[in-house]
Amino acid sequence: MFKQWLFSAALLASSIVAPTIAAATTKYHTVKTIRPFTAELVFYETNIPYDTVLGRLDAAINKTGSVNFLRDFHNSKTKEEQTTLISSIIQDRTFLLFLETNHKAWLDVYDPTTQHPKATVYTIGNPNFAANILPLDYTTGVNIPPRFLILETKNGGAKIVYQQFSKIFAPFNKNKELAGHTHDLDVNFGALFDNVTSTKV
Ligand SMILES: *[C@@H]1O[C@H](CO)[C@@H](O)[C@H](O)[C@H]1NC(C)=O
Ligand SMILES: *[C@@H]1O[C@H](CO)[C@@H](O)[C@H](O)[C@H]1NC(C)=O
Repeated sequence: MFKQWLFSAALLASSIVAPTIAAATTKYHTVKTIRPFTAELVFYETNIPYDTVLGRLDAAINKTGSVNFLRDFHNSKTKEEQTTLISSIIQDRTFLLFLETNHKAWLDVYDPTTQHPKATVYTIGNPNFAANILPLDYTTGVNIPPRFLILETKNGGAKIVYQQFSKIFAPFNKNKELAGHTHDLDVNFGALFDNVTSTKV
């Protein structure tokens, strides 16, 4: 009798508790989707010495002047403060440097027995451009600001590798305005690296 009561009490408890738990978990909803898209990798390969190429790039993005950019940008309190900061670094150029990841520097420590090529990843951009793109589709932020690999080649030259903007943004190109901006970025980054790898200077 007591056993039976216990059993039905347990049943009752579970019938009360279970739906409560179920309700709590169904309040949230998570969906994972995977969407393929076609990307394009842009390669520049030159026998201009790696250090020359990097030096030109550093000048073109004012690396020295960009060192405290992220800290100062995030501390800016007004749009005017932000745009003044941007133009103080960029001046008559197009982009500035957000971040640098020097793969050779850490690999040389991690594995000193291997000769690692000079290899650095720059995150380069211009918030004035990003401010035009992000509000059109905030999902584009996954690729803002973009990354560029500058890798030393076997002959001491340099290889630059990055993803073509119009392609990485293609899944978000629902409107013409966004497509126009991403096309402009293809052109502007192309001009930057055409310049940095120019054999005429
Ligand atoms: C680089 O940026 C700094 C601001 O951090 C600025 O004072 C300097 O004039 C800039 N250099 C060039 C060559 O534009
Ligand atoms: C190309 O590089 C030179 C030398 O660094 C610089 O004076 C010039 O403004 C650059 N032009 C462009 C379009 O980046």
